[in-house]
Amino acid sequence: MGASEILVTGGTGSLGRLVVDRLGAAGAGARVLSHSGHAGTVRGDLLTGEGLEQAVDGVGTIVHCASSPTKTRQVDVEGTRRLLQAAGRAGVSHLVFISIVGVDLNPHFPYYRMKLEVERIVERSPVPWTILRATQFHELLLRIVRFLERLPVVMVPKGVLLQPIETGEVAGRLAELALSEPLGRVPDVGGPEVRTFAELARSYSEATGRRRRVVEVPLPGKTARAFREGAQLAPDHSYGKFRWEEFLDRTREELP
Ligand SMILES: NC(=O)c1ccc[n+]([C@@H]2O[C@H](COP(=O)([O-])OP(=O)(O)OC[C@H]3O[C@@H](n4cnc5c(N)ncnc54)[C@H](OP(=O)(O)O)[C@@H]3O)[C@@H](O)[C@H]2O)c1
Repeated sequence: MGASEILVTGGTGSLGRLVVDRLGAAGAGARVLSHSGHAGTVRGDLLTGEGLEQAVDGVGTIVHCASSPTKTRQVDVEGTRRLLQAAGRAGVSHLVFISIVGVDLNPHFPYYRMKLEVERIVERSPVPWTILRATQFHELLLRIVRFLERLPVVMVPKGVLLQPIETGEVAGRLAELALSEPLGRVPDVGGPEVRTFAELARSYSEATGRRRRVVEVPLPGKTARAFREGAQLAPDHSYGKFRWEEFLDRTREELP
């Protein structure tokens, strides 16, 4: 194994598997870390540290996409610390980390607070790094609207704006960064348009042919306020070209 080999953590997830594809298309094969033992992956668990030493052996660059929304402290925060320790010992020369736009502006949201903590761990590590922040992936928004659509009336938070981006476009940018020198924090990437949550939910409802009524509901609290104030948006960085409706069109076959 040459030290130019790339390891993708979370390479079985929505984003990570597209990073692996993009790297492959660029002629750079990648090793995939997985804790659930998918075929063709290297077994390693960020939760326990098991298998990490072997996974980073001979690796030059890590693209770190693994995350657990339910065990964020253990997997994301402590797991990244473990990964960087193993990477440092193995002489890894670059770690690329995917973060989220606005993690510093919405510390009331626990997942964002912990992502920011992970950014700090990456920045303080002796392993040279690149951090890219992205807005909401189309797949995430699809999961959320599918969930909300289980009720006869679709209730969405009032006044919340979103700037969804095509996951493949983020993956492409991450692959490009993985094949470059470490650059520190690079410009954020957002989708092509800033839209209200309600508009996006209506488009989904139309795409499924169900035409459900979408109602905006005011949400109390600091987290909701930060989302209304646009902490999660990057209007000056509309990197993505692919619109939500185009994504829905493409996935129409799979829509329930
Ligand atoms: N979704 C969004 O809108 C969005 C926006 C900006 C940034 N991001 C960031 O992008 C990254 C990827 O998101 P995603 O939506 O692609 O996530 P995802 O589909 O949920 O994938 C998560 C990945 O983490 C891996 N993982 C979970 N627990 C692990 C453990 N204990 N040890 C090793 N690997 C573990 C899983 O692999 P195995 O189960 O195979 O182990 C899986 O491949 C995350 O860091 C997220 O914060 C997401």
